[in-house]
Amino acid sequence: MDAKMVEAINDQINFELYSGYIYYSMGTYLSDLGLSGMTQWMIAQTQEEMFHAHKMLMFLCERGERVELKAIDGPATSWESPLAAFENALEHEKIVTGRINDLVDMALELKDHATANFLQWYVAEQVEEEASVGGAADNLRLIGESGNALFMLDKEMGARVFTMPAAGEE
Ligand code: FEO
Repeated sequence: MDAKMVEAINDQINFELYSGYIYYSMGTYLSDLGLSGMTQWMIAQTQEEMFHAHKMLMFLCERGERVELKAIDGPATSWESPLAAFENALEHEKIVTGRINDLVDMALELKDHATANFLQWYVAEQVEEEASVGGAADNLRLIGESGNALFMLDKEMGARVFTMPAAGEE
């Protein structure tokens, strides 16, 4: 693989881990507010991010390239409200989507079709990521100040679990 491509994927591994760090932090913020369902939702999201990083790491290993794990930046630790946290998460996912698109562009410029093909999984995943985070933000915006609705939404969001995809079904 071209060294530039390997470096860019290594950077993205770091960014996926950073994403997980942000959602872990959001989870603890929501836990402080007593929103145990949303905490669980954010923990499942963190596990997804770890999986996103892991999948890239294994791709580099399989192609005989060197993985370089770098220091992870510290995340924010508090937000103005649960809605602000989810809006921040959506902004973050849009950044991730832009980065994945840039990686695909680079792979195509380098005629590295194996990497471009591998990255298609992330292109599709980002559609889901933006939809799920954006959907949660929409729900929070809709319920406004209603404590009852917040209670119900929190309960519903607590049902989310991360299931590691089976090999070949990722
Ligand atoms: Fe790994 Fe949420 O993007």
